[in-house]
Amino acid sequence: MSRLSTALLGGTGVVGQRLAELLARHPWFKLKAVYAGKTAGLKYQEVKWHSEPPAEVADLEVLRLEDFNGGYDVVFSALPSEVAGRAEEHAAEAGCAVFSNASSHRMDPDVPLVVPEVNPEHLELITAQRKLRGWSGLIATDPNCTTVGLVMALKPIASEYRIRAVRVATLQAASGAGYPGVPSLDLIDNAIPYIPGEEEKIAREARKILGELDGGRVKEADIRVEAACNRVPVLDGHLECVFIETEEPVSPDHVMDLLREFRGLPQELKLPTAPDQPIVVLEHQDRPQPRLDRGAGSPPGMSITVGRVRRGSSAASLLLTLLVHNTIRGAAGCALLLAELAAEMGWLS
Ligand SMILES: NC(=O)c1ccc[n+]([C@@H]2O[C@H](COP(=O)([O-])OP(=O)(O)OC[C@H]3O[C@@H](n4cnc5c(N)ncnc54)[C@H](OP(=O)(O)O)[C@@H]3O)[C@@H](O)[C@H]2O)c1
Repeated sequence: MSRLSTALLGGTGVVGQRLAELLARHPWFKLKAVYAGKTAGLKYQEVKWHSEPPAEVADLEVLRLEDFNGGYDVVFSALPSEVAGRAEEHAAEAGCAVFSNASSHRMDPDVPLVVPEVNPEHLELITAQRKLRGWSGLIATDPNCTTVGLVMALKPIASEYRIRAVRVATLQAASGAGYPGVPSLDLIDNAIPYIPGEEEKIAREARKILGELDGGRVKEADIRVEAACNRVPVLDGHLECVFIETEEPVSPDHVMDLLREFRGLPQELKLPTAPDQPIVVLEHQDRPQPRLDRGAGSPPGMSITVGRVRRGSSAASLLLTLLVHNTIRGAAGCALLLAELAAEMGWLS
């Protein structure tokens, strides 16, 4: 099978570079072009890389986003939301299947917001999207990085317990703010108890993802979600301390089994970027830790890790700590897995 021609919008940033790494030698997608802003005109290998640029694409010239005119089967967007919205619509109009990491379209009622193991059925929204917008292409999105980890842990629990409320306190890595991100003098030896827009995104995105398709729309899950987000001087890997309130008594041992055994459609379909075990449960008292655990899974960083699963102050309250690699499972890897899922389910034809 010849590989689908693929372009990367915002390919020079933190998430874009992760996508380029994951796309190198991908069996289905071939990266043909990279579009960006101020770095346009440079060779891809000449931009500021945070790792070795993949040899296969090192000599590509970075193109101006303004010159994007379609002509690709698949487009990944790693643009800031201020520019992503219009650029992604333009690509979908031009017939491309767009998979986005940006927030611009996540909450549009006709745009699927998907974590492939959690709500693959929401891709069905593309039918309504095409009808409404007249596109031959499509836009599908992945959520905010913190939400990815949260809903992956909640999904297997929600399959057996009715969740009433979720509260989460996060310790989020520096790379979550992109490059150059938070100035080092503000972050080293420090923690910042505010990430603009993040707490609201976690609450509304989690409810959409855990919601049910109902008559061509998503009926949001009736779960109260509250978040308190902190930026910490860690390179990669968001840690989340989660407090879950259930309707009925909850057993931590049962929850650990549910998490360990959880598999989704990507595992069933054996998609190229699907980890065998999406959730790794750690029983050590002091895990997960970003430095030790962010590379969990295969490809590395595609599994989340969960530890400290314990009962709270009542029989219907559960506490756990999870770690998600924010730029891999929380962004680039999630978008790539979503594109693989959409391709396998026939949405690209
Ligand atoms: N970092 C994470 O962990 C994470 C996780 C989930 C989702 N996201 C989302 O993913 C997207 C990318 O995040 P990031 O962390 O990779 O950001 P980033 O490091 O700041 O990269 C932004 C990219 O967009 C390009 N860009 C910026 N302004 C542009 C413009 N006006 N016209 C054309 N291109 C422009 C940049 O190109 P130049 O370098 O040429 O300016 C760069 O390639 C954002 O929407 C973010 O919210 C990020």
